[in-house]
Amino acid sequence: MNSLYQKLIQGNKLFSESKKFKDPEYFEKLAKGQMPDYLWIGCSDSRVPANEITNTGSGEIFVHRNIANLVVHTDTNLLSVLEYAVKYLKVKHIIVCGHYNCGGVKASMTNHFHGFVDNWLRNIKDVYFKYRKELDTIKDETKREDRLCELNVVEQVRNLAKSGIVQEAWAERELHLHGWVYGLHDGLIKDLSVIHNNKEDIDEIYRFDTLKPVMKKTDLVLPKPVSKIKSRSKSSV
Ligand code: CO
Repeated sequence: MNSLYQKLIQGNKLFSESKKFKDPEYFEKLAKGQMPDYLWIGCSDSRVPANEITNTGSGEIFVHRNIANLVVHTDTNLLSVLEYAVKYLKVKHIIVCGHYNCGGVKASMTNHFHGFVDNWLRNIKDVYFKYRKELDTIKDETKREDRLCELNVVEQVRNLAKSGIVQEAWAERELHLHGWVYGLHDGLIKDLSVIHNNKEDIDEIYRFDTLKPVMKKTDLVLPKPVSKIKSRSKSSV
């Protein structure tokens, strides 16, 4: 048990030393800040690490991962990551990357009761229900699972497009959404070509028309200080 844990610490030392060997200022440069171009929303599966499978390094991708790469509009964790990535990091691309042979997707296709996680998997069951006519015609179980992995990604990209955070960004700049599926069997990414670039790509009911461009500095009116608070703070000094 201890050696399992130590393996990670030893691995970290090797990582740090090899980076510094190639570039002595590697960490100093990274520590100054991040400005990644991409937000990655992927599955928590240990076989789908965002940087490794895209041959990218530290500082290049802002990452959020959960079971079956879901974009749920009540998930405060995901929405916080999304808002930070879009509003402050100003990422140019958001990628939802699912993968074939996804345990979460497969579990959602059964009637087995797993426990609390079924509340999460329910989101994928809803995707199955939406596309049940197409899915039920696929007799081969693995192929049906693979297709649901793809359709799940399509729906999650659509969920991003429905969010106020993304639509607010579209009101003032370009932001591209993409849907990909990664193959565990060959290490290759398939681009599903579900590209959304503006709110016209989604159903009308989900479009916000009240979003205004971001306020300019000159529009800001600072509130006048309240005299009572001022005098109280004086006396407390
Ligand atoms: Co998965």
